Amino acid sequence: MTWIGLVWAEAHGGVIGAQGGMPWHVPEDLAHFKEVTLGAPVVMGRKTWDSLPERFRPLPERENVVITRQQDWSAEGARRAANVQDALRGLERAWVIGGAEIFRQLIGEADRLEVTELDVDVEGDAFAPSKAGWRVVDEGPWQTSRSGIRYRFLGYER
Ligand SMILES: NC(=O)c1ccc[n+]([C@@H]2O[C@H](COP(=O)([O-])OP(=O)(O)OC[C@H]3O[C@@H](n4cnc5c(N)ncnc54)[C@H](OP(=O)(O)O)[C@@H]3O)[C@@H](O)[C@H]2O)c1
Repeated sequence: MTWIGLVWAEAHGGVIGAQGGMPWHVPEDLAHFKEVTLGAPVVMGRKTWDSLPERFRPLPERENVVITRQQDWSAEGARRAANVQDALRGLERAWVIGGAEIFRQLIGEADRLEVTELDVDVEGDAFAPSKAGWRVVDEGPWQTSRSGIRYRFLGYER
């Protein structure tokens, strides 16, 4: 069995993305993401891979696993997986890093959620999965990003 963590940042209404990207810039959250995931495999949907700026992919010091139905898909530094089970095969632990489609398929098997709450209203087209049945076990204080957005880090377990 693979230990599975999900990590994401959400704005009001559970918005995690818009038009293939993240409609905010919170460098403190990117640093937190790196701290959480460093050293472990990261599993993502093909659209999330595409959303990473080329200079940031593959995410360094992490095995990058990309889920796609395209049999001929390949990218340097990434392992292609045909579905979520294939992505996790052989992994002792993994951080699932999005996006919405992949979160929906894997939250049922997850052991931990690391959620950054962003105190901001944005229009979006990708949404966080439901956290019904999960409880907050770590609650960081509200802080203000140098970009001006308020944020806090929450850890959830079942
Ligand atoms: N705020 C955050 O923390 C955060 C984190 C990650 C992503 N995001 C945002 O979320 C958005 C992307 O999310 P998304 O839901 O649109 O896409 P996604 O989950 O990143 O990727 C979807 C793609 O994954 C592949 N896929 C999904 N299920 C599959 C399955 N069962 N078997 C095989 N392949 C499968 C398909 O790729 P193919 O089409 O290639 O077959 C599908 O088009 C972007 O806006 C991104 O910036 C935000």
